[in-house]
Amino acid sequence: MEAATYNYKVVRQFAIMTVVWGIVGMLVGVILSAQLIWPNLTDSLGPLAPYLSYGRIRPLHTNAVIFAFGGSALFAASLFIVQRTCQTRLLSDGLASFVFWAWQLVIVLAALTLPMGLTSAKEYAELEWPIDILIAVVWVAYAILFFGTVMKRKTQHIYVSNWFFGAYIVTIAVLHITNSIELPITLTKSYSAYAGVQDAMVQWWYAHNAVGFFLTTAFLGMMYYFIPKQAGRPIYSYRLSIVHFWSLSFLYMWAGPHHLLYTALPDWAQSLGMIFSVMLIAPSWGGMINGIMTLSGAWHKLRTDPILKFMVTALSFYGMSTFEGPMMSVKTVNALSHYTEWNIAHVHSGSLGWVAMITIGCMYYLIPRLFGREEMHSVKLINTHFWISTIGVVLYIASMWIAGVAQGLMWRATNDDGTLTYSFVQSVVTMYPFYYIRLLGGLMFFTGMLLMAWNVWKTVSAGKAVNDARIPEAVQA
Ligand code: HEM
Ligand code: HEM
Repeated sequence: MEAATYNYKVVRQFAIMTVVWGIVGMLVGVILSAQLIWPNLTDSLGPLAPYLSYGRIRPLHTNAVIFAFGGSALFAASLFIVQRTCQTRLLSDGLASFVFWAWQLVIVLAALTLPMGLTSAKEYAELEWPIDILIAVVWVAYAILFFGTVMKRKTQHIYVSNWFFGAYIVTIAVLHITNSIELPITLTKSYSAYAGVQDAMVQWWYAHNAVGFFLTTAFLGMMYYFIPKQAGRPIYSYRLSIVHFWSLSFLYMWAGPHHLLYTALPDWAQSLGMIFSVMLIAPSWGGMINGIMTLSGAWHKLRTDPILKFMVTALSFYGMSTFEGPMMSVKTVNALSHYTEWNIAHVHSGSLGWVAMITIGCMYYLIPRLFGREEMHSVKLINTHFWISTIGVVLYIASMWIAGVAQGLMWRATNDDGTLTYSFVQSVVTMYPFYYIRLLGGLMFFTGMLLMAWNVWKTVSAGKAVNDARIPEAVQA
């Protein structure tokens, strides 16, 4: 009888593409940071100039880092974890292959259409309707693959990571389909089915939950598997993880209006968004504490294990950004922070500090195993990567915090006679030193990714692709 095996091929493909898309997306982020200092940076590139203008490559950056880098990491992690924790092979190899190639096609189409200026103008949902349909098809295939695998599991219970992935898969389908309902006019142009304030509410219900379920819930699924693995300890509290799961899923859904404070949205809806956002701190910190306390009895490993350092630092940034978010949702605070660089600081403490760092840690765990190696080619280089990226994030977010608060205060300062103390241009000039520091921080983070790529290359070339790893005999019954 043939031995039962896992499908590692699709995990390996997505893991490698995580590194590739991370580099591409962050490079675009670095170019954007430079353009904010030198607005004419790409103007001299002749016919290429329009395609590289700020307004066009900004959505390219967000789509590349969230859906190409973050998305590939989530596909890799969820398809690995669901097999390992259910002790069974994926439902279908063909479906897995379809999900991989079709998702890469979505990314390539995004990389072509966004610089061409083809966009539905909804943030984080910019892609035009034919690509939206393709995304929906891939997502349904992914859902069948994931839930089908859970259903044929050999274990009795469903490990908590799969609960988080399950919620993310179902929610993203609902969000994407609802927010993308539009009237196509041509192949590359459509109009939203919603209008005015309803359109804004649907869009920010989508975008906030994209943060909540794509950038948070799913990465928590990753955290709940890889931190115990790397620390060699069970989760601190399984019970807390279940309370964490249900409270997070319930509360996130209602917080979207905090993106629309002081707009035409009815006041009661704004207050509702604010209250639910403030409550969100409880499950967020519950999850962070659960992750960090998993290291109880293994704290000494932090001294020597750079992968664990990435994971625990990621959790610390998660805690920080989920303290900051509820605070920014309070109307009086938002009156200062909204439209300023403070937002950009918050976004990157969540996305670089939490999302990118947990991803990097997990990829360093996964990649050697997918290539039949015990560990990465150079553990020392992982350590260098850890420090360069940590200092990079700190420079990025600290500079943007100071810049944001300065900007907010300058815009609202008035003289005794009621006139504005500062002109808008003065506030722009004040930003310059901070933009340089952000560029430096971004460059450091980006350099870390290049080190990672080299380390991955060396590991992969010395190893051998493991496509069909054997499921241990004892659990095959
Ligand atoms: C308890 C958790 C959180 C709450 C309550 C929260 C709240 C907020 C608030 C109030 C804003 C500013 C809205 C505005 O003034 O326009 C914001 C923006 C944002 N947050 Fe969070 N946040 C949380 C966690 C996170 C995390 C962990 C991430 C990333 C992984 C994140 C990503 C973002 C993004 C991308 C934006 C910018 C949206 C835009 O305007 O384009 N947030 N968040
Ligand atoms: C080297 C790393 C990175 C650099 C240098 C960078 C730089 C930038 C810059 C300059 C902007 C535009 C800010 C503005 O318009 O004022 C931006 C926006 C954004 N970036 Fe990044 N970024 C990096 C990595 C990431 C990663 C890894 C993620 C997500 C996983 C991310 C998510 C975002 C989001 C969501 C926005 C839009 C924020 C908003 O609309 O409020 N970035 N980034």
